[in-house]
Amino acid sequence: MSSPQPCGATAQARTCMGIVDEAARLERLGKPVVHLEKGELDLDTHDLVKERAVQALRENRTRYSHSSGLPELRQAISDHYGRVYGVDVDPARVVVNSGSSAAMLELFLALLEPGDEVVIPDPGYPAYPSLVEAARGKAVRAAAAGHGYLHTAELAASCVTPATRALLINFPSNPVGSLAGPDELRAFAGIGPLVVADEVYHGLAFADERPHTILEFSDNAVSVGSFSKSFAMTGWRLGYVIVPEWLRSRLTRMHEYLFVGTSTFAQWGAVTALENAETIQKQIRDELRGRQECLREELARGGLRPVYEPRGGFYTLVHQPEGTGGSAAFAARLLEHTHVALTPGSEFGPSGEGCVRFSLSAPRERIREGLRRITTFLHSSSAEGTP
Ligand SMILES: Cc1ncc(COP(=O)(O)O)c(C=O)c1O
Repeated sequence: MSSPQPCGATAQARTCMGIVDEAARLERLGKPVVHLEKGELDLDTHDLVKERAVQALRENRTRYSHSSGLPELRQAISDHYGRVYGVDVDPARVVVNSGSSAAMLELFLALLEPGDEVVIPDPGYPAYPSLVEAARGKAVRAAAAGHGYLHTAELAASCVTPATRALLINFPSNPVGSLAGPDELRAFAGIGPLVVADEVYHGLAFADERPHTILEFSDNAVSVGSFSKSFAMTGWRLGYVIVPEWLRSRLTRMHEYLFVGTSTFAQWGAVTALENAETIQKQIRDELRGRQECLREELARGGLRPVYEPRGGFYTLVHQPEGTGGSAAFAARLLEHTHVALTPGSEFGPSGEGCVRFSLSAPRERIREGLRRITTFLHSSSAEGTP
């Protein structure tokens, strides 16, 4: 006999957006929800950035920009890569888009023929398969659950076939928080297919080590960037790709027709964000370090084990305690009984099953409160679940 299908609010809460929606519903009912599920920080965009955008509006910078992005912004992105990574980027290779999501979708539309394969991390950002499949490609998951949850060049290489068109990598990673050093990035670049490096969490490594972009190790690579995470600008919808010279004209032509461009006054704000990147990112990083330390302590106090000690970004993937069942049902039960919202590991691919993701999307005292509630719940009988 087939097992009964879940229904009602708890069933809906089992997906990532389901959890977000259900948490919002509970909040509207006056429940004291602790948000540790979000893919964005609760921090505000820096005042300097907002002021520049307001000034741009006052100056009537309300018409189309160059379709690939304001020349000033593409130059600022090029300068940023020179300053931070020591690489020389021709601004003509930069295409600005409505967030890195649109930038990646368009990149795959320009790059893939039907059936081309893209190796993606598993666990990895939930949108990757859709972005590849929308361009009629095939997403091939490199399952890292049996490999310490780390997406490595060795693992990616084991998934390469004659149909592989690109290797998608993401450091600092969502949901694991791993980084890749120079040797690992060089190894990815050496595998052969085009490396597409999702670097949207750059600037948010916890230690003061210098970050590395894939562009330091290969000319045949794409760097994907965004203002969303590392400048607390998710709602501005600004991201970009830096592509190799051979892909430039195909992508920029496609971009003229598909997107025309992005918000002009928002792009002026982004110019200021890059001009002040060091100050802005240091403020965000310092806050995240404090939150991460707090989460680490509270997880340990509650006997909860991360799959990996995160080194950057704002997520920690944590093993579920024994006997708590599937991750989606577990996250739904947690939300229902404790009003703490987490993301089920299954959202990040089969390798994420058996885990839940904590986000540093709330201040320290809320993280503490959330973990206290979870620990109390885990000692009650309602914590147990079916697999
Ligand atoms: C790894 C990763 N890449 C890309 C994105 C998309 O970001 P945006 O479209 O806001 O730039 C996200 C958002 O959560 C993410 O976690």
